[in-house]
Amino acid sequence: MTSEDIEFIRNKIREHHNWFGSSLPMIASENITSPLTREAVGSDLSHRYAEGDPGKRFYEGCKYLDEIEIKTQELATELFGSETADVRPISGVLANYAAFDALADYGDTVMSLSVPSGGHISHSKFSAAGLMGFDINEFPFDEDNLNIDTEKMCEMIKELEPELIIFGASVIPFPHPVEEAREIADETGSKIMYDAAHVLGLIAGNRFQDPIAEGADAMTASTHKTFPGPQGGVILHKKQFDKEIRKAVFPGTTSNHHLHHMAGLGVTLAEMKEFGEEYANQTIKNAKKLGKALYNQGCHVLGKDKGYTKSHQLLVDVSENGGGATIAKKLENANIIANKNILPWDDVNNTEEPSGIRLGVQELTRVGMKEKDMEVVAELMSRIIVEGEETKKVKEDVREFSDKFNKVHYCYDGRIEAYQFSEI
Ligand SMILES: Cc1ncc(COP(=O)(O)O)c(C=O)c1O
Repeated sequence: MTSEDIEFIRNKIREHHNWFGSSLPMIASENITSPLTREAVGSDLSHRYAEGDPGKRFYEGCKYLDEIEIKTQELATELFGSETADVRPISGVLANYAAFDALADYGDTVMSLSVPSGGHISHSKFSAAGLMGFDINEFPFDEDNLNIDTEKMCEMIKELEPELIIFGASVIPFPHPVEEAREIADETGSKIMYDAAHVLGLIAGNRFQDPIAEGADAMTASTHKTFPGPQGGVILHKKQFDKEIRKAVFPGTTSNHHLHHMAGLGVTLAEMKEFGEEYANQTIKNAKKLGKALYNQGCHVLGKDKGYTKSHQLLVDVSENGGGATIAKKLENANIIANKNILPWDDVNNTEEPSGIRLGVQELTRVGMKEKDMEVVAELMSRIIVEGEETKKVKEDVREFSDKFNKVHYCYDGRIEAYQFSEI
């Protein structure tokens, strides 16, 4: 028998697992890991320290950790076609912070996407870019095309000659104009960074743009959104920046990296080598299908003229249906987990009552859903969004539907249940 406090926490974990197992998890920045990745995450590596570089650690006891890190780095460079990689950042924001520090100096002029247009807070004054004291200039944004306005962007690069151009976003339904920027950046001496936090799994499967081939000097990412690894970060970059980047990761922004997550990243990279294309392909097909089906059900899905999306994400304007906060809460009450989201025309400070919701289908894809299942998901969602039905009955139907999808796909050995809590 354990203590009451421990039982309280264990019960809450059980309840959480049961809830997610009977839900439609559609937060665009989440995913579930494979059984073999979970094995790595639950291993003794979670107890250890390995500050520094393989072969040059500050502690003893690292000989196997060194080999795992070298292997994980090799897998990352191979899968993404980068010159080298740093697999130690412990989150996407810290990967960004380290890359900012290595590629630019405090106070430099940079260009990035505004938060209402989909940019991440770490590219803004509120977070890492702000801490770097950057002079931040927002990309011109085309609201109809839900993307950076390429022509105006090119003019702006010529005019500002920024030290660093930051692509990538938290809302990125369509590829960013990296290639177009590269041509001008060569003239202005600007460096290019691409934050692939959201789309790393799609890039791994060769189904989205390839920022490194298009000319990014460094690609940063979280490792747990479309890329279905443990929570963490990664930097894939040109060798000329390696010394600065490694210094900015350790000791700059992390002392000990999380070795169990790094090993889990290695396992996931190997699984994505094998299953990545199939997974990315199905994810994008599902997202397009869900966009169309929701639209046909009467939801105001953005980007209709462009096929709604080319990534895992959809944006829905629910301002006529009660607003983003109200709809996201009602969906949650019906076991459909999504988030409220500001839309490009919303005030940046209006994060509490924004006009939209953001949806991602990568996790539904991981548990085996295909296009025909997106029709069902769209119908369940529109009963809440469009018809304003009571959540109780919808919740029962969501539970019955989602219970059928309980194995992790696109990985080796899907023995365990997707949402199983491995109790001892
Ligand atoms: C574009 C982008 N970059 C970075 C991050 C931050 O990643 P993390 O939560 O791993 O620090 C996010 C998180 O959602 C993101 O959307």
